[in-house]
Amino acid sequence: MIRVHEPPAASTLGSQTIAVVGMGYVGLTTAACLARRHFKTVGIDKDKKRIGRLRNGETLLHEPGLHALVRDGLRSGSLRFSSTIQDARPADIIFVSVGTPSRRDESIDLSQVRSAARGLGAALRNVEEKKTVVLRSTVVPGTTSGVFIPTVVEHAGKRANIVFCYNPEFMAEGRAVQDTFHPDRIIIGAKNPESWYGLASLYHHFYGFEKQKMIMTTFANAEMIKYASNAFLAMKVSFINQIANLCSETPGCDAQTVAEAIGLDKRIGGLFLRAGLGYGGSCLGKDMRALRAYAKGKDIELPLVDATLVVNQAQRMVAVRYAEEQLGSLRGKRVALLGLAFKPETDDMREAVSVRLAEALLAKGAQVIGHDPVANGNARSLLGDRIAYADSAEECISGSDCAIVVTEWDQFRRLAARTFRRAMRHPLVIDGRRIYDPEKFGKAGVTLIAVGLARSSG
Ligand code: UDX
Repeated sequence: MIRVHEPPAASTLGSQTIAVVGMGYVGLTTAACLARRHFKTVGIDKDKKRIGRLRNGETLLHEPGLHALVRDGLRSGSLRFSSTIQDARPADIIFVSVGTPSRRDESIDLSQVRSAARGLGAALRNVEEKKTVVLRSTVVPGTTSGVFIPTVVEHAGKRANIVFCYNPEFMAEGRAVQDTFHPDRIIIGAKNPESWYGLASLYHHFYGFEKQKMIMTTFANAEMIKYASNAFLAMKVSFINQIANLCSETPGCDAQTVAEAIGLDKRIGGLFLRAGLGYGGSCLGKDMRALRAYAKGKDIELPLVDATLVVNQAQRMVAVRYAEEQLGSLRGKRVALLGLAFKPETDDMREAVSVRLAEALLAKGAQVIGHDPVANGNARSLLGDRIAYADSAEECISGSDCAIVVTEWDQFRRLAARTFRRAMRHPLVIDGRRIYDPEKFGKAGVTLIAVGLARSSG
């Protein structure tokens, strides 16, 4: 049963002090947003170089709004950074937000969780004042109670006065700050109501009058909720991509209209039904593979998860197929990739569709040139000189035989059909993210193939 938390009386709201261990994008965003609400916050990471740069106000990643929050926090003194975990000891609430990357067998690698737990435990050795330690990393059910808590307790000593929570985050990259200030719900897993209390009052204080739905539940439920959410989102994307491929071959069909209409059914919901070249990013794929590995350990098969992954992997290849259908062999053809990051408003290249797509095109003998407003540098470190990089979209499409929209940056939406016609050697655009008006492109003499749009009118 879901337990929605009632806010504590206003008089009990305090201004707790906070430590956040792990300054990746989740930890840093959490720390910067808390500091914005005037909580005295210290961001801790063992990477001294990273801490040095953060102290100078460099956020090291492209995340809208984050840079300003960090700079303001440093200026006002509500935010500081440290490379010493001992600095977590004075805090009332300590978040742990470290990475849980995939291992070879697809399960999650808990080494950072264990090492943070050991360090934090030692820092809280025999602590007398009550501390709330909150794990925020994405971990499979059983990890908080089976790995994290025992490790902290082992190093802190049995007498240490610590309560534990598991509090997953649902931040999407590119909107992490926005998602932190306006979440759909807050999930808190804990052993008993006394353990929820410290974190719940922090959130009531943080959100003030903007009441948030807080779900209080067990550790295992909170852990499972995170995986089930991401698996469902990925499944929605793979589902609409399958429908889109069918629409492409069905005269009179357009997946965009179909998605909009089915999304009006409240039981389905309209979000995450944008057909395209598949999802990328550090979470959806990794979390589904981790869920599958976890299920395997329980002798349970998850065919929907398997299918979601298979569909997603195949989806980028529709762009290659459309290009070949139009151009014949791709050998020696110049293919422009508009967008390299896994989605707009980020420079993150993890599991980006562009990488595998570029590799597939290269394997067919194409010359590939890419442009991303912010991710060219990160793309180069993955793809090296195997592809060329352009400084602008115009330069990217210039002289090309085919342009593929991989990431729906606003800059690309503004490109007019005539720009493509003038710049390209062969005006063929594959709109992998549905950002162009097929009619306008058709009138301008550009062949536009849009994912999910019927390729013949029948
Ligand atoms: C996701 C979840 O949204 C977030 O709650 C979780 O905490 C981490 O994983 P993120 O990976 O940052 O966040 O990005 P998201 O906006 O979810 O997009 C993931 C991928 O799906 C992107 O490549 C995006 O282009 C793609 N996508 C999304 C679609 O192809 N169609 C859609 O309708 C929505």
